[in-house]
Amino acid sequence: MSSPYQAIRAAAHENPRAFWEQAAQDVSWIEPPKVTLDDSNPPFYRWFVGGKINGCYNAVDRHVDAGRGAQTAIIYDSPVTETIAHISYAELQDKIAHLAGAIAARGIGYGDRVIIYMPMIPEAVIAMLACARIGAVHSVVFGGFAAAELAKRIDDATPKMILTASCGIEPSRIIAYKPLIDEAIETATHKVSDVILMQRPQCNASLIDGRDHDWDAVTAAARPHPCVPVNSEDPAYILYTSGTTGTPKGVVRPTGGHIVALNWSMPNIYDCRAGDVYWAASDVGWVVGHSYIVYAPLFAGCTTVLFEGKPVGTPDATTFWRVISQHKVRAMFTAPTAIRAIKKEDPEGHLIKQFDMSHFAYQFLAGERCDPDTLHWCQDKLGVPAIDHWWQTETGWSIAANCAGIDLLPIKAGSSGPAAPTWDVRILAEDGSEKPVGEIGSVVAKLPMPPGTLPTLWQNDTRFVESYLSAFPGFYETGDAGYIDEDGYLFIMARTDDIINVAGHRLSTGGMEEVLAGHHDVAECAVIGINDALKGQIPLGFVILKSGIERAGEVIIAEIVQRVRDQIGPVAAFKQAVIVQRLPKTRSGKILRRTMQSIVNGDDFTIPATIDDPAIIEEIADAVRIAGIKDSTS
Ligand code: COA
Ligand code: AMP
Repeated sequence: MSSPYQAIRAAAHENPRAFWEQAAQDVSWIEPPKVTLDDSNPPFYRWFVGGKINGCYNAVDRHVDAGRGAQTAIIYDSPVTETIAHISYAELQDKIAHLAGAIAARGIGYGDRVIIYMPMIPEAVIAMLACARIGAVHSVVFGGFAAAELAKRIDDATPKMILTASCGIEPSRIIAYKPLIDEAIETATHKVSDVILMQRPQCNASLIDGRDHDWDAVTAAARPHPCVPVNSEDPAYILYTSGTTGTPKGVVRPTGGHIVALNWSMPNIYDCRAGDVYWAASDVGWVVGHSYIVYAPLFAGCTTVLFEGKPVGTPDATTFWRVISQHKVRAMFTAPTAIRAIKKEDPEGHLIKQFDMSHFAYQFLAGERCDPDTLHWCQDKLGVPAIDHWWQTETGWSIAANCAGIDLLPIKAGSSGPAAPTWDVRILAEDGSEKPVGEIGSVVAKLPMPPGTLPTLWQNDTRFVESYLSAFPGFYETGDAGYIDEDGYLFIMARTDDIINVAGHRLSTGGMEEVLAGHHDVAECAVIGINDALKGQIPLGFVILKSGIERAGEVIIAEIVQRVRDQIGPVAAFKQAVIVQRLPKTRSGKILRRTMQSIVNGDDFTIPATIDDPAIIEEIADAVRIAGIKDSTS
């Protein structure tokens, strides 16, 4: 007899349209869709065509209309400011409507872009939903990115307005945002006409007359704005993510599909329903923050926890357990890195025992590969299922997940579970043939992908097709390598491209190379990801200096480290580089980054037959040894 999951998955596979047509009935449409899936123009697919909908209405107003306005929508828990605040759905609706009014009063409306550069405060959520309310397209930029990265996003998204705050708060320092905003606006070619800024008590920003507006003043003066209908296929937001070059990819999220898929995911994947408290410990600047701090829990009428802090150091390794206990969290979602940070401070999990965790039912993990030790630690110490699941900025929700709300299948450490319903995941060899069970290859999804996934890149259909759809026609290339076992479980092992994952943050080594190459003394360079016991991976740079440079190597390395921090941001965690005489290359001149990675990580590897000069392997190993760089996991 098949399990409920197998039955649902089989039915979904048989008829994905019917599956999603059914799921679409659980959200509020202004006009229902006329066509569930338009597949008339492959490889471009559109879900719920003809439907009119509003994201803010589905996240907030519909719960107020249903009589649940008094329920807490957001619990803001900020150990860095020692604040805990509860915001009800009715209060949230009021705050959003006023900010929406203030934005609209400055001439921004349907289809206009608005950049949001904000710390983890309720106003960040209010800003996102205010855009959704008026049909504007938000693009949230993570606060750990430098002004130059913000400028790139301004030029690509061409926003009329930026919503921001005076500062972010890291455990070690206050980060004034206004100088970054000013520098980004100055650098960008596209000119932003308005900035609305939330003054935080920790840092007062000076405002530029005519361009900058005080958040409290403009919202107090604004008339509340109603929700406006948008087309199902209109972008809800653009979220930039790392590609193989320094130019980020603007992932577009289609409104209708995003609402339907995320609303479906809360009860079915996370086993959370209206009134349950759900906590994703991420940042609104990442896709996890978009989907699982803001949209999905609110679409489903849950209470979402907005946490401004770190797993350790704010103030210590009890914080996660204190939040779970104090707010009666049912399901929590974080990156394995966060658990590793806690485990390092409290290996036996003694601190957990101080808290009543009786409401806690599930620990979800994603954002990077979950090593079996971390998964087992969660299961043993927390006493709840620890569920790894796999997805990407591009998909917005799980490609593979053990669906806790349907029925929890056995958990296999190292696997992110079976493909979620209607995902047709395959493992392909380079020639496009399907790999046998258990063999590693490129992980791809057969088109069309389910609702909520990216229909294209912002104003760049060509890059969309080239990046994701060209290598294996008819399939979406995830950029991950992995295998499927005999039970249909997916094991995601590594990236197939030059993207690295640092503390669950996706970064482009190509982007870092562009920054290194811009240093006046650098002739050539390469950046690779090396294993790190805490962050999973960290970047390591290799540079060849121009001939005749006599300045001290340490000085040059310190300059390039600072350069990455200034141009990409502290989040890149680029702290190490090695000066070498040459780089390993193929005879055709391609740098052998994977081979370099294996050398530093101490992995077994075969010297590529195409290598220009095998003697260089020893040279690189020596340079790394002399620089004192080693794989911190060994
Ligand atoms: N604004 C400005 N700077 C930021 C920032 C933000 N929003 N977020 C991080 N930074 C800075 C940090 O201050 C740090 O700077 P430093 O080099 O001066 O110390 C740098 O970026 C790296 O930050 P981070 O990755 O947070 O590392 P950390 O060493 O401060 O903390 C962990 C380590 C494990 C505690 C932390 O990485 C963590 O909580 N990881 C969880 C990952 C996660 O939630 N990922 C989201 C995807 S699901
Ligand atoms: P992002 O777009 O920032 O969410 O990063 C997505 C990438 O992170 C994926 O393509 C994977 O490389 C990696 N990733 C995310 N979740 C997992 C997981 N559960 N297991 C393995 N890798 C993961």
